[in-house]
Amino acid sequence: MIKNIRNFCIIAHIDHGKSTLADRLLELTSTIEERKMKDQVLDSMDLERERGITIKMQPVRMDYKLDGKEYILNLIDTPGHVDFQYEVSRSLAAVEGVLLVVDATQGIQAQTLANLHLAIEQGLEIIPVINKIDMPAADPAKVEKEIKSLLGGDDEILRVSAKTGENVEKILKAVVEQLPAPKGSEGADTQVMIFDSMFDTYQGVLTHVRIMGGSLKRGDKIHLVGSMQNTEVLEVGTFMPERKTKDFLGSGEIGYLVTTAKDLSAVRVGDTIVSEKDIEKSEELRLPGYKEVKPMVFAGIYPKNTEEHMELRGAMGKINLNDASFVFEPERSDALGPGFRAGFLGLLHLDIIQERISREFDLEVIVTTPSVEYKVLLKDTKTLDIRRPQELPDPSVIEYIEEPWVAMEVVAPTEFVGSLMGLLQERRGVYLATEYLDESRIVLKYELPLSSILTDFYDKLKGASKGYASMAWEFKGYRQAPIVRMDIVIADSKEEALAQLIYEPDAQRTGRQIVARLKELLPRQMFVIKIQAAIGGSVIAGERLSAMRKDVTAKLYGGDITRKRKLLEKQKKGKKKMMASGKVDIPGNVYLDILKQG
Ligand code: GTP
Repeated sequence: MIKNIRNFCIIAHIDHGKSTLADRLLELTSTIEERKMKDQVLDSMDLERERGITIKMQPVRMDYKLDGKEYILNLIDTPGHVDFQYEVSRSLAAVEGVLLVVDATQGIQAQTLANLHLAIEQGLEIIPVINKIDMPAADPAKVEKEIKSLLGGDDEILRVSAKTGENVEKILKAVVEQLPAPKGSEGADTQVMIFDSMFDTYQGVLTHVRIMGGSLKRGDKIHLVGSMQNTEVLEVGTFMPERKTKDFLGSGEIGYLVTTAKDLSAVRVGDTIVSEKDIEKSEELRLPGYKEVKPMVFAGIYPKNTEEHMELRGAMGKINLNDASFVFEPERSDALGPGFRAGFLGLLHLDIIQERISREFDLEVIVTTPSVEYKVLLKDTKTLDIRRPQELPDPSVIEYIEEPWVAMEVVAPTEFVGSLMGLLQERRGVYLATEYLDESRIVLKYELPLSSILTDFYDKLKGASKGYASMAWEFKGYRQAPIVRMDIVIADSKEEALAQLIYEPDAQRTGRQIVARLKELLPRQMFVIKIQAAIGGSVIAGERLSAMRKDVTAKLYGGDITRKRKLLEKQKKGKKKMMASGKVDIPGNVYLDILKQG
């Protein structure tokens, strides 16, 4: 039986056609009836379908017949965007091989490389596929050369069109012939890998599993090795792609499991399930887990209408149920009221969560400028993780501060090397290496601080390469950096809500920009307002917003110049007094303009 199983993932750069190809495979194997077929059927979230991106990995089982023999093909469609890379690495641990899809008009891109590295690390069999050969701009011969320079070998590479279906059947044949059947046997001890989990309103926690050895059936008493919990199997089944209950899942199979566990935290992704009777052997049977995913990007999320604070908490709690990589904690801002500080995997993740809150829960939110987490090493050798300027301790107790760095690969045509290097250097990038994909395209390798790619980096990268460059990054580690708290001071009063943590050499430029923006936005008062950016006690940028002019001499007529002077003198004194004591009421939209993302 196990000899007839093939487990594989499709990996590719974003938009190279994974989901469309998966659609064709489902049609060819009659997994989905034609009348039920819609585009990118595996992208089940509305948001995924609308934006045409895959966010969650999605397993599906197909039955396929070749030369009179029946096969079970388990396919996992994976997301292509860098933020969801962890989804890719988890799916790869559950399979024996991958289809590496490359767009014939684009060639190898940054995310193709990143995913390929992951597949090689896992020791997976790789079947390269060149897609979109129906397009006029397709250059399959060139792309084939690129792929061969990476993977070696001189076998012909499959050239297909996921759109028209041309040659797609050959992929199924290659999967059967080139990928190894799963190892392990049904007679062995039960050893099951949890590679994903989701929350279903009706059934509770649904665990996605790969049976590495033994089997699982309803009623089995099982033990979760990592979380050291015992539970019982209520249901097992496979994805067709809808869930279909089965009597049991055998060795090598991929499917789902419903247990008595009540929430997602009980069934940790990456954990191993063994049979309760094998508890003694559980350490022996434990499979290597995954790297835990850590949120890298943080931002404040506030309800537009402060009364909706509790609703927002409920909504975010529900999202967290099936997206454990999204975390949040309460925070309060002087300007925005009660809200939350939330952590994300990256900017697209942030964007998607924001949209889910508004769509699925009908709540309008304000999202503040994203930032990173800093490590503050104190003189007494303690370490603090801080995400907000208010958490920064007094400089006198700080030994030094560290910020997160990433390793980045940028793939682009050679002609843009100059402008791309300029951009990367400007973002404090440290050059590592250049590699050639072929004579016309290169891979630039850099390391840079995560904070410097959080705002507008992607747009600038596209701008510097006429849209041709692509990038992928991964967290590298923390490095020491001169990070300071910059305050914004309006009419001598510190605006707590506008304070930020900043790389000191950038402070003056950013400070000037904010101060200038505030000068434009703030309404004039009867007195002059000082607007300043300051670090500690010293002002690094400043503007003056002049007072509204009231013509105090209007009522005078005739030419009594001394009287006129006297009145103006009085007005000047009054304004000075007001400037010394004046409190400026800052309208909410001014805060918003400065704090808001983008
Ligand atoms: P993500 O899920 O966002 O990573 O993208 P994906 O790799 O799944 O790509 P998807 O299948 O969504 O395809 C991206 C776009 O390319 C869609 O507009 C598809 O219709 C189109 N496309 C995919 N395959 C082909 C093909 O063979 N030919 C042509 N002409 N278009 C294709």
